[in-house]
Amino acid sequence: MGVDAASTDTTGDAIVINGAPAAAEPRAGQCFRTFLREQGNTGVKKGCDGGDCGACTVHVDGNPVHSCIYPAALAGGHEVTTIEGLAAGCSHAEHDDHDGAPSSEPVPLHPMQRQFLETQGFQCGFCTAGMIMTSATFTEEQKQNLPRNLKGNLCRCTGYRAIEDAIRGDAEGENRGHSGGMGDNVPAPAGPGVVTGQVKYTLDTDPADFPGLLHMKLLRSPHAHARILSIDTSAALAVPGVVRVFTSDDVPDLHYSTAQHELVEDDPDDMRMLDTVVRFVGQRVAAVVADSVQAAEAGVRAIHVEYEVLPAVFTPEEAILPGAPTVHGEKDGAVARISRPQDNVLAELHSELGDVDAAFATADVVHEKEYRTHRVQHVALETHCSIAWVEDGVLTVRSSTQVPFLAQRTLARIFDRPRESVRVFTGRVGGGFGGKQEVITEDLAALATLELGVPVQLEFTRSEQFTATTTRHPFHIRLKAAARKDGTLTALQLNVLTNTGAYGNHGPGVMFHGCGESVAVYNCANKKLDAQAVYTHTLPSGAFRGYGLSQMIFAVESAMDELAHGIGMDPWEFRRRNMVRKGDPMLSSHSEPEEDVLYGSYGLDQCVRLAEDALRRGAERDASFGEKLGEEWLVGEGSALSMIDTVPPRGHFSHSRVSLGADGRYLVEFGTAEFGNGTTTVHTQLAAEALGTSTDSVDYRQSDTANTRHDTGAFGSTGTVVAGKATLAAATELAERLRTLGSDLLGVPVEDCMLGPDGVTHPSGTVSLERLHAAAVERGLSLVADGEWGGTPRSVAFNVHGFRVAVSRVTGEIRILQSVQAADAGKVVNPRQCRGQVEGGIAQALGAALYEAVRIDDTGRVYTDILRQYHIPTFADTPRSEVYFAATEDSTGPLGAKSMSESPFNPVAPALANAIRNATGVRFAELPLSQDAVYLGLKEAGLTSA
Ligand code: FES
Repeated sequence: MGVDAASTDTTGDAIVINGAPAAAEPRAGQCFRTFLREQGNTGVKKGCDGGDCGACTVHVDGNPVHSCIYPAALAGGHEVTTIEGLAAGCSHAEHDDHDGAPSSEPVPLHPMQRQFLETQGFQCGFCTAGMIMTSATFTEEQKQNLPRNLKGNLCRCTGYRAIEDAIRGDAEGENRGHSGGMGDNVPAPAGPGVVTGQVKYTLDTDPADFPGLLHMKLLRSPHAHARILSIDTSAALAVPGVVRVFTSDDVPDLHYSTAQHELVEDDPDDMRMLDTVVRFVGQRVAAVVADSVQAAEAGVRAIHVEYEVLPAVFTPEEAILPGAPTVHGEKDGAVARISRPQDNVLAELHSELGDVDAAFATADVVHEKEYRTHRVQHVALETHCSIAWVEDGVLTVRSSTQVPFLAQRTLARIFDRPRESVRVFTGRVGGGFGGKQEVITEDLAALATLELGVPVQLEFTRSEQFTATTTRHPFHIRLKAAARKDGTLTALQLNVLTNTGAYGNHGPGVMFHGCGESVAVYNCANKKLDAQAVYTHTLPSGAFRGYGLSQMIFAVESAMDELAHGIGMDPWEFRRRNMVRKGDPMLSSHSEPEEDVLYGSYGLDQCVRLAEDALRRGAERDASFGEKLGEEWLVGEGSALSMIDTVPPRGHFSHSRVSLGADGRYLVEFGTAEFGNGTTTVHTQLAAEALGTSTDSVDYRQSDTANTRHDTGAFGSTGTVVAGKATLAAATELAERLRTLGSDLLGVPVEDCMLGPDGVTHPSGTVSLERLHAAAVERGLSLVADGEWGGTPRSVAFNVHGFRVAVSRVTGEIRILQSVQAADAGKVVNPRQCRGQVEGGIAQALGAALYEAVRIDDTGRVYTDILRQYHIPTFADTPRSEVYFAATEDSTGPLGAKSMSESPFNPVAPALANAIRNATGVRFAELPLSQDAVYLGLKEAGLTSA
């Protein structure tokens, strides 16, 4: 079905979508994106409502437009092409026989779709349809200026390198002819669906599957702290289409945490689904359910609430002062698991190793400074959303979650149901970064469907993402460190306040984890830590890539640089002298290391060398670059290192199942989710490796509580090292059974049999996989094998980042001349995918280091509530980083692999600050390193020419 202008009927005001007249008229005032999605074109994605992200890009008469800001009524009489119709309207479309997509039929592809598929120009893929639609219109000339021409399309996952390669058709030869084994760039099985818009994210559902679907919208608090005296819902209930309004009177009288961990005890029970006290601007007050989003929004506007406004406190420094307003002062700390509710202290840590005061007294150099890190947002392009219904008595929730099994457990607890009467599953999830390790839509959608008996959908807007989900914890770190002239680090003391916001979800974990590996990576006889996670009347902080480490590493790595400068030693050399070596105890400030953390492999020394050499090569390459830039620019280099435990502490559990079907194909079923982290690819690769076959023979099902036994979830970088290990165990067990059965059928010793793509082979003959299955059925044998892993023992992974930058003494602008990261990921299962994780982590960290900031006014209101104000890195903002991998194999990970999801983020900000310090002599100790802040810092130091 092609779009032929000469033959397509565009008379009158009919909207022609992908060559066919639309089946309905748009509603008055409807945006084109919503209209197109209602017409079944769910490849058109909703990432914002302001024309900022480009995920909704379609063609109108061949021109790319952001359909979210295009009135649907204007489309009448025009030809519209969505990702679903792109190939059909292209005379160059080719049929794809892409061999990375088992069981898929060949699909027609536009050349740009093919290029994105071949280069794997995506991770979560939520931005991909929009990227393809925009870039499919590019001329060759436009392709040469992507910073300008791709400014209307944002990607949060990739760091844009893979997208650049895709648009330019530069596959570097690494994408073709894969064998499907370990270390191979196996394409994502979902790739064809991603590039054609066919893959289904959370709300890409068919309305026919949800008869009577209702929509929920939330009334949120305008006050940072208030008691709700009354709620009048009568006017809301009178709004046509409104079905029900839920308030605190309608929810279970239960306190719990939105945070999801294997151990419920890791987080305080400090929130109710709908409460009578609100503790931050944006907190839920009431939920309106209606037959349309518009009616639900009108219902929200019609609710009248009477508040008693209470005093509020916005900073942890003020919150711990005597007499400060309390956030949860009325609670029993022992019951709610809050350390000192009357003092606003959620959790605290006090420990000392050695004697720091004595060490400071005898040091040659002491560095003492306050470091501050700020709130940043995950900005996954798919917002939080869920749809809930009851099916055969089972409360069923399709959610954009990273943790379906823990969400299932939490819903069972809230609604006092047996766990097996709750099912939570995901479609493909459009990014997470820790933000979706919470239950913040599922509970209300579930409440409504249980009460009303029909499906209910709750989808957050982009503004709600900024004002009412979670952010990275701001840290205020008072640091004091000392060294001897010989380069020995002698003391490290940190006094830390973290701002957990109004609720304590992830507050204790982030504080403890932040104070762990950031300090333990250095050998030092005297370490002291005092840390408090503090409540304030601001939006809750939560899990964010790095889980506290990025904040602490910013301070520690800045301090290492200062100490090196203080004794006149090269910072690389200072780090080399003090960083842990294989066998060294990894001590934070306790005298005993965590007993299940070991050096399953050690690649920190390699990473340091790789990054240092890369920077040196860059400097030689651009030796005269500083001179060319001129007097205005100051050039410098900086670096930072980081360590991370490969698995969170106290248990992370995964189960997998691998089976052989009658058709000779394998099926691997596992619980962990796919949200761009590559678990689908890694698990099929691991299974294929154990079964002696290629990924083409392996199908998968994942992240559904109905299909698989418990999985703690896709966080803490565990998708490979925990869930992958369970899959490897299951596949290994199945392989053994198949070899045994094959040897019996062939009548030869099992040790002489091989399992391969064709079945069990021996010089005397071969038993096909289909025959093996049939024989197993005849004999009553099971060819279904289960595997599990409990996340211990754990190993450590390392990342080292280096920058060479130029800093303008006129404007404070920072130009990144070179960016390199060396990563110790163990045996890399899929190099291209792992590199993408690293590149994406660097890009996200650069945004956080340079300009991203969730800003709150003096009433507690977040005012950076749209993408245009918040500003995540665009293509033009993102340098192309060099990524290197250390050559290690880990004894604890599956086939030698380690985790590499969170950690690339962690050393970026301090490496940047150290490079600026090296260039200018000025230490910037507060993030973000915005142009204004740098200018003012240089001015204060007398370095500006203005
Ligand atoms: Fe671009 Fe996830 S792949 S937003």
